[in-house]
Amino acid sequence: MNEAAPHIVTGKSEGVLRVEIRRPEKKNALTAAMYGQLADVFGQAVADSDVRVLLLHGQPGAFTAGNDLGEFLNDPPMNEDAPVFRFLTAFRDFPKPFLAAVTGPAVGVGTTMLLHCDLVFAGEGAKFQLPFVSLGLCPEAASSLLLPALIGHARAAEVILLGEPFGAGQAREMGLVNAVLPDAEVLDHALARARRLAAQPPAAVRLAKQLLKRSQAALIRETMAEEDRQFKVRLNSPEAREAFGAFLEKRKPDFSRFS
Ligand code: COA
Repeated sequence: MNEAAPHIVTGKSEGVLRVEIRRPEKKNALTAAMYGQLADVFGQAVADSDVRVLLLHGQPGAFTAGNDLGEFLNDPPMNEDAPVFRFLTAFRDFPKPFLAAVTGPAVGVGTTMLLHCDLVFAGEGAKFQLPFVSLGLCPEAASSLLLPALIGHARAAEVILLGEPFGAGQAREMGLVNAVLPDAEVLDHALARARRLAAQPPAAVRLAKQLLKRSQAALIRETMAEEDRQFKVRLNSPEAREAFGAFLEKRKPDFSRFS
């Protein structure tokens, strides 16, 4: 594997670009620098005809804990061209198959990006969570559209409003993941599926992917634009700042003074 950057590591073989998030000491929490590198990797993969499939993964201990909460507190992304928004756009518009092998926690964007994947494989110990509301934020990556479309309003409201984690079995039952495997086998299984996909006729694969997503494409763009607008406002809200501070200070947040 070539080290494209310390926390994002890539390797290419048999038409499959493996992209590993590697910041295990922080559960693969994503910094602006990492988002920027990921956006660049996705962009280069579009242009590289040797890449037919992109497979994203972490390590057995973590897929990703989502956005680095220290950065959200101290340097929130406020511009449209901020690395986080470049990354969301990059996976939303990625024209080739996008696969994920999920082990350990997949929090925030770690779960919402899966709604844009073509195939997702999860380890038995994977834990998914959309804690945006608990953090004083709002859903992102078109999850406010894609999650209810996948599982219905009642279950989407439960996952988004309460923000509690759910396991791989529930994710499979929701249709968020294709298969659940023992943690030690997830990456190999995902790689085998990725290689199989890379051997398919590439133009037909890209066309089928585009057609599968066609009915929602315009709505996804519109929803993401509105979510991004609201998200930026929420990042500086007193509720969010209380939630970020509480996480970093390892205490329970107290929202009792807010109306
Ligand atoms: N941002 C910054 N640091 C993070 C982080 C994040 N999103 N997630 C984890 N970390 C850090 C912890 O602060 C801790 O750092 P420390 O060792 O310097 O104290 C380290 O990673 C390990 O995390 P820890 O909480 O001890 O691991 P855990 O296995 O008990 O729990 C999680 C893992 C992912 C469930 C938990 O860390 C968590 O809830 N993280 C926040 C997730 C989140 O809200 N993300 C934002 C989504 S928008």
